[in-house]
Amino acid sequence: MKLFKVAADFLRWRKGQSETLGFVPTLGALHEGHFSLIKKSKDLCRFTVVSIFLNPTQFSPDEDLRNYPQTLNLDIIHLKRLGVDVLFLPTEEEMYKKAGDVNIEPTNLFNKLEGSSRPHFFYGVTTIVAKLFNIIQPSHTFFGEKDAQQLRIIKQMIVNMKYPIILISCSIVRNKDGLALSSRNQRLTKKQRQVATEIYKGLIYIQQGLNEGQKILKLKEFFHLFIEKVPDMTVDYLSFACSDTLEEINQVTNKSILVSTAVFFHNIRLIDNFTYLPST
Ligand code: PAJ
Repeated sequence: MKLFKVAADFLRWRKGQSETLGFVPTLGALHEGHFSLIKKSKDLCRFTVVSIFLNPTQFSPDEDLRNYPQTLNLDIIHLKRLGVDVLFLPTEEEMYKKAGDVNIEPTNLFNKLEGSSRPHFFYGVTTIVAKLFNIIQPSHTFFGEKDAQQLRIIKQMIVNMKYPIILISCSIVRNKDGLALSSRNQRLTKKQRQVATEIYKGLIYIQQGLNEGQKILKLKEFFHLFIEKVPDMTVDYLSFACSDTLEEINQVTNKSILVSTAVFFHNIRLIDNFTYLPST
């Protein structure tokens, strides 16, 4: 596996490659969720490039960037095992001083759901992903449905910016009890990880409720009670939104619904979601 820390060095390597190149951007602290994206890229593309960059602009001052788990040595072992061709591991200076400015126009998708709780977040994500796309120049890129709004926004950014990149969405990888894998889970104890599966259970109940034709308002009330009975767990938001526009909805129609939530558990923010496709 080649390792580049400097964009100019990566570009020298990139110049010689004309075949398909899959790109998986990450914040590091890699787990099976990330690996599923990498495996898909390996299946579809001649080359696979992974970036690890703990992007400061998508964290606010009160969300402690320094608490984000970092396991670089182990990450590198996994990337080699998976047969990744290139790890791009830039410094902050490389990405923010040397990589040139990008100007991504915010859209209506930015300020909803995650964006209403974390207003800075999608400015940071789109800025760094655009800079990475400009350097890596992938033919394909792989994003997880775990971050459903991020996926929707990157899809729009690719269209708006006319990037010649095929976006592949990858389903959520969960542990055997249903908890969505996340780097942040590493900050929970084994016991806490078991308790955190209540989030998934709550979403499953909602899914069943929707299948039975229950009202969204009732399901929201249920979820808040269900989650907040758990000690140290509070709901940041639970949203029922149009999967395409991310506008909140109060009634089920024939359109696909993104049901998503962010829950604080021992001050760690965990997110999860599912997409409900009404049967017509
Ligand atoms: P990070 O949280 O490291 O996630 C990198 C990619 O892995 C994202 O596309 C995310 O959706 C996917 N992923 C994480 N957990 C997953 C799971 N359990 N199942 C499936 N996919 C999963 O998302 C980011 O980093 C950053 O915002 C980034 C795009 C790198 C920009 O800095």
